[in-house]
Amino acid sequence: MKAMLLGTAVLGAMLAAPVTAATIDRFATLNGEAPILIAHRGASGYLPEHTIAAYELGIQMGADYIEPDLQLTADGHVVVMHDGTLNRSTNVEELFEARNGGYAVKDFTLDEIRTLTAEPTRTATNEYPGFSSDYPFVVPTFDEVLVWLDEYNAENGTDIGIYPESKAPYNAALNTAIAQSLSTHGYTEAADKVILQSFSFDSAEELAALTDSMMIDATIAQLGSATLLDGVFGMTYGGEFRSLEALAEYVEGLGVSISSPALGAEFISAAHDLGLVVHGWTWRPTSLEEAFAQIQPLIEAGIDGIFTDYPDLGRAVIDANMPAPVPLPAALPMLLAGLGGLAVLRRRRK
Ligand code: G3P
Ligand code: CA
Repeated sequence: MKAMLLGTAVLGAMLAAPVTAATIDRFATLNGEAPILIAHRGASGYLPEHTIAAYELGIQMGADYIEPDLQLTADGHVVVMHDGTLNRSTNVEELFEARNGGYAVKDFTLDEIRTLTAEPTRTATNEYPGFSSDYPFVVPTFDEVLVWLDEYNAENGTDIGIYPESKAPYNAALNTAIAQSLSTHGYTEAADKVILQSFSFDSAEELAALTDSMMIDATIAQLGSATLLDGVFGMTYGGEFRSLEALAEYVEGLGVSISSPALGAEFISAAHDLGLVVHGWTWRPTSLEEAFAQIQPLIEAGIDGIFTDYPDLGRAVIDANMPAPVPLPAALPMLLAGLGGLAVLRRRRK
């Protein structure tokens, strides 16, 4: 009776759900599953980078993670901004005089930064009709992004992760504030899908120690260039090299420039052997054809994550690698044959 119920449940599930084969064993990633897709600065190829709107669009285009770059303001708040200065991606020059010869984030208070409008860069525009935020082009704080993502996931039944970057150079106050925000907003379990990254070796090491001591179950990733030095694979940033063995002492992931000469199947395999995932940045294809040409070789080499400004193109390439669905007419006889085989085995055991 139990076996019959099980068979009915399996058949019911097959009829109710889209019939797709498991992805496991198909990908050469560390966990055998599809590479994660990271909306780099949000869907920044389409909307002003590092805005709630860009994150939202990135998710709607199929991203698994959003990526905020983080900087400290003059009054100690963590804001989401790629550059150490405000003028490339906001209208700060229209509203403020330069300070200390420029527009450094660290020279402006949060209240001042809140008056700015994030502006489109590169191929982005500011036309997007589906905002869930009333102020989509304000420069957000890290806290606001954490709250927004939590609400977004709850409202939409999604489990989108977050991949915050403590921008180099090393800044102890920034690292502490990042860890504190994660703790305050309850991003402490593996299920919360937090990957912390930095180009600064010191920051990555410190973030690993901080999250350990604060019981935050986050993945730590070292950013840099994949390097082969005297026959040893490692990561380089700012003229400093650390071997994969040394990095594996405190990080679980590597964020690698896709223009690194050493990036390929051998590097990825060496990282996987040490339990390290490899995420590549940053893909900026100008067409679907170019996306396939650029991303597919790294998928075949086993890359575990894809940072792109164009999450829709990244999603298309990843999905094209998913195993083809098993059509129902073929799946049904397979299921019945499987159940028949089980019955024979049970009879033999008796
Ligand atoms: O964090 C991965 C990638 O974003 C590093 O480059 O300069 O865009 O932060 P960047
Ligand atoms: Ca980044």
